[in-house]
Amino acid sequence: IFGFSSQFNNGQRVYDDEQSGLREQTVIRFSFVVAENTPKGQAAQEFARLVKLKTNDTIKVELFPNGTLYNEYDEVAALQQGSIQLIAPSFSNISEVVPEWMAMDLPFAFRNEEAVQQAFQGKIGSILMGKLESKGMIGLGLWANGFQQMTSNKRPLVELEDFRNLKFRILPSEVIEAQFRQLNATTVPIPFNKVYRSMESGEVDSGENTISNIYSRKLYQVQKYMTISNHAYLGYGVIMNKAFWDKLSAAQQKAVGEAMQEATAWANQNAIHLNSKQLDELKKTGQMDIHVLSDEERAEWEQALEPVYQEARAYVGQELIDAVNELRR
Ligand code: LMR
Repeated sequence: IFGFSSQFNNGQRVYDDEQSGLREQTVIRFSFVVAENTPKGQAAQEFARLVKLKTNDTIKVELFPNGTLYNEYDEVAALQQGSIQLIAPSFSNISEVVPEWMAMDLPFAFRNEEAVQQAFQGKIGSILMGKLESKGMIGLGLWANGFQQMTSNKRPLVELEDFRNLKFRILPSEVIEAQFRQLNATTVPIPFNKVYRSMESGEVDSGENTISNIYSRKLYQVQKYMTISNHAYLGYGVIMNKAFWDKLSAAQQKAVGEAMQEATAWANQNAIHLNSKQLDELKKTGQMDIHVLSDEERAEWEQALEPVYQEARAYVGQELIDAVNELRR
């Protein structure tokens, strides 16, 4: 082993002389905040496997799960600076740099997983990806996690009045803030690593997240009630440092692009299975009272949250609001 070469700080090259003699390896450092047994964690592993396969091991994807390198507040800047080469933040976290990504936070924007895929693969996805380049980033894929569910440690969340004066942990997004304002609740953005503690200590009463995140972070230990509301969607933009991408050869770009395409197709199916499996596991713990929102209740929530679309226009623009409304029809 010749060790690390220090001349490249954006995408280190490792020289290794095992068996085949001297060989150059490009490293993609991929940082994310969730665990490995999550939709994003498993998708990242699949992507790494495919990149290795398609590049004959000349590009290595190194995974840094659980926010061990950066939390979500720092990872976008770290990517832009080239300290890491790949991240997959939630839509809300991306919106801190590109506000239009808040379009994906709109409540009741997607009726089902098919509608989410239409958004990913259609006009909405391409508008959002197109906004990254001027920020020194390139969007390689859109990954699903799943629909958000409401949780609380205070009381079941069924009627609109149940939300009044509860304090919710949220992702940083004015659209999500607006959603809870319509419900007369208060909000505080807290990074994922600190969510468990904030719920345990009573700093917040409530939250919204996917089954997978509630399960893998054991939030069911600190939230007594969950409503299966599917009221919003949590997914990720998979984003590479653009200077790093531009430095890859055409053949490397092709291999990485294909690996991403295949990993994404796999990931978006896997996310559905994993959330459903983990819902069963969650029920088995017996630690949460679970309410499934009825169609009537859902219609009431949806109506109450309609004004969020009006507010969101200032952040995401009319074109994206129209595109989301088109999907809702
Ligand atoms: C959250 O902070 O709740 C999520 O964005 C975490 C994640 O990456 O799924």
